[in-house]
Amino acid sequence: MGRVHIMDHPLVRHKIDYIRRKEVGTKEFREIIEEISMLMCYEATRGLKLADVEIETPICKMTGKELAGRKLAVVPILRAGLGMVEGILKMIPAAKIGHIGLYRDPETLQPVEYYCKLPSDCDKREVFVVDPMLATGGSSSEALTMLKEKGVKNMTFLCILAAPEGLEKLREDHPDVDIYVGALDEKMNEHGYIVPGLGDAGDRIFGTK
Ligand code: PRP
Ligand code: URA
Repeated sequence: MGRVHIMDHPLVRHKIDYIRRKEVGTKEFREIIEEISMLMCYEATRGLKLADVEIETPICKMTGKELAGRKLAVVPILRAGLGMVEGILKMIPAAKIGHIGLYRDPETLQPVEYYCKLPSDCDKREVFVVDPMLATGGSSSEALTMLKEKGVKNMTFLCILAAPEGLEKLREDHPDVDIYVGALDEKMNEHGYIVPGLGDAGDRIFGTK
């Protein structure tokens, strides 16, 4: 059974509320998304397995620890999810990377799939699916379903902001998946934007509009 983890670290809170400000520009927005992703990755990897390893320090031999168990993959949901990848790779540089392309139809708010390329052994990996925004939950739920159809069994979803409606949907559709949320916002508006939110994450990361 998966669990929902809402971040409660002051650094994460400070950085999220900083980038909500409309005057924060693309460069700074992108850099801070990377930092938040790194901090969230630290939390989300707390359960990784360790194994004993014999090492030698300049002083003596000792039994140390190294990461063991399933290898990792990171799967960003295009496009905004790309903004979270670098931060996660700084923590787990050996992770393989897959991509799922989904965009939200502006009228219906339904996710439309346009791309999927995954590591060939992703069914054996622990997969971190990343997207900064969980609004209706349509995109992330669809992405997790696509991954399950490819045989992926072990998944964790990381988002920076979530609306309660989207979080509820993701829990219902994928109760087996652990979910890490940077901050849980109040609601969605009539256009499907998170309130108070930070606007369109993809546009702010890539400087489009
Ligand atoms: C945004 C965001 C999520 C989705 C969240 O992507 O990055 O993927 O919306 O909304 P939902 O929970 O209601 O599905 P968008 O469709 O704007 O595409 P983009 O990343 O290419 O900007
Ligand atoms: N996607 C975004 O980028 N922002 C929102 O507030 C909702 C969906």
